[in-house]
Formats: sequence, structure tokens, C-alpha cells
Amino acid sequence: MHEKSIVLLNKAVADELSAVHQYMYFHFHLDDQGYDLLSSMFRRIAIKEMTHAEMLAERILFLKGEVEMDLAFPVEKIQDVMEMLKKAAAMEEDAVLSYNKWTNESAANADSVTKKLFEQLAAEEEGHYDQFDLQMEQVEKFGERYLALQSIEKKQEIRSWTSSRINFIKKLYCEPCGPTGFFF
Ligand SMILES: [Fe+2]
Ligand SMILES: [Fe+2]
Repeated sequence: MHEKSIVLLNKAVADELSAVHQYMYFHFHLDDQGYDLLSSMFRRIAIKEMTHAEMLAERILFLKGEVEMDLAFPVEKIQDVMEMLKKAAAMEEDAVLSYNKWTNESAANADSVTKKLFEQLAAEEEGHYDQFDLQMEQVEKFGERYLALQSIEKKQEIRSWTSSRINFIKKLYCEPCGPTGFFF
């Protein structure tokens, strides 16, 4: 009954799965470069895209279709931070355009539930675009200093975690030894 909707929903699943792969690739590399804030943002949005794929798949199965699990495009091996953000923002812009187009097509196909789902996803992709755009503005405004701050914060976190562990061990082993301590 809703063959046209199933085709559109599968296109959307392919886009979402490709976004999951691309954003996880960025997450791995940002984590490796010590950019905690951006790394966790990509991870969080990748998980969100996975939930989008899940919502679309549920609708496909409800309509008695098959979830194809295709990918729309291969992962681009970008490792420059600004280029990652530009790629992600462009992907979100494309997603918003697609979901708006598919919303209209679903209305023309008289499938209001699929239409509502596409509308909801268009709004969420706009939110993702906004987050990437904001990060691009920050990098443009503060340049390398903004990125360097993230890796400095990570080093400070590691340092304070290490010193708190050392203090804990000192307390555990040395307090009975008196003020001079024995082991430290
Ligand atoms: Fe999405
Ligand atoms: Fe998105």
C-alpha cells in the first residue's frame, strides 16, 4: 500500500547509517588528537543518528517493507578539524533538504505518519547543523587556541586524576606511619 514510502524511508536509513559511520570516524580521530569536547559531540550525534535509523526502520517494518541497510556514501577520511566540521554541517544541511522534500512527497502519497516522522527528523537535523555551525564559529574566532585549550583541559584532567589517586594511596599506606611517612 505504501511502496513509495518504503523507498523513501530506506533512502533515509542509508543517509542516517552513513552519518553514523562518518561521525564515529571523526569521533575516533578527534579523541586521538585530544579534542575531548568535539570528540564527544560527534559521538553523541552519531548515537542520535542511530536512533533516527531505528525510528525509520520501525516505520518500514510497520508498513511490511524490508530494511535495506544500504549506505548512501562511503566515509571520507578527513582528519583536519575544520574540514570535519564543514563536512558534518554540509551533511546536516543535505539531510534537512531531503527530509523536507520527503515530507512533501509523503503528503502527496497520503501517508501522514511517515510525513510526521520526516518532519520531526528535519527539525532534529537542523539542531545538529546548529551545533556544528557554532563549533565552526568558535574555531574561526579563536583558531588554534580554541583547539589547544581542549587538549590542555584533557591534560589537566589526567594530571588532577593522577594526583588524587596518589594522595589516596598515600593516605591508605602512610597515615599510620606518622607525619614523616614511610613509603612517600
Ligand atoms: Fe539523523
Ligand atoms: Fe543529524
